[in-house]
Amino acid sequence: MHNSILIDCEKERMIDPPTSAPPQSESLELLSAEVSDRFRWQWDDLSIANQPFRLAVASDPEGMLIEACERQDAGEKGVIDPFWATTWRAAAGLDRYMDQIDLGGVPVLELGCGTGHAGIAAMLRGADVTLTDGVDDPLMLVRMSVWELRDRCTVQRLRFGLDRIDAKFPVVLGSDVTYLRSLWPELDKCLRDHLADGGQALLSDPYRIIANEFRGWIQEHGWNYTEHKIDLADAPEHPIRVMCLKLP
Ligand SMILES: C[S@@+](CC[C@H](N)C(=O)[O-])C[C@H]1O[C@@H](n2cnc3c(N)ncnc32)[C@H](O)[C@@H]1O
Repeated sequence: MHNSILIDCEKERMIDPPTSAPPQSESLELLSAEVSDRFRWQWDDLSIANQPFRLAVASDPEGMLIEACERQDAGEKGVIDPFWATTWRAAAGLDRYMDQIDLGGVPVLELGCGTGHAGIAAMLRGADVTLTDGVDDPLMLVRMSVWELRDRCTVQRLRFGLDRIDAKFPVVLGSDVTYLRSLWPELDKCLRDHLADGGQALLSDPYRIIANEFRGWIQEHGWNYTEHKIDLADAPEHPIRVMCLKLP
């Protein structure tokens, strides 16, 4: 979708995570008003885990991304790349892959959840999901999306390699989170911090060239690697790869 912009931004830009706690709201109306103050958003009707689901998304992800890139190119410091603002096809691929797994009652952690498609897909399949991202804006959208089901999941900020949840998960999900080389060591640490013994990390991507490089890098860093190809009906010629990582 935004591949060309993503490649342009492949200048090893790090996100500059905020230090404040994500806002917590008492009602969906209040939360949606807070989000409206920050950026334009809308409800999108999607199919998640093979069922209709209403996802809160940014209305103009492309515009937000271009604006962030322009501000960064102009030398402004601390501008956060709003890659979270798009729901990437990699998440739909991971959703489809999860058809094959029994997730009933399984604790699942999603890293870099963005608008939360993959984690919500696990939740709708019965998993006990913690959805996380390094920045607050997408987490506000995710809170809106899961509002009716909020007792069945946790939404919190988690920056790769910096933050730690005091729990281990048999399954860790990451959809399109391997797109920057500079993130890999932090992602590796985050996976090691949170993966339970014998657990698996499932990372999806649309066969990005940079992710081919990640595939070699992560194996050199001690992970056992297998991969699966997932065809999606919207564009079967552009399949999604699901990398399955386990520690020996
Ligand atoms: C390409 S987007 C993918 C979003 C979502 N998983 C999807 O597939 O639609 C990458 C996500 O990783 C998050 N991210 C980037 N760097 C991060 C970091 N250091 N710690 C935590 N999340 C990070 C971004 O905020 C963004 O939501």
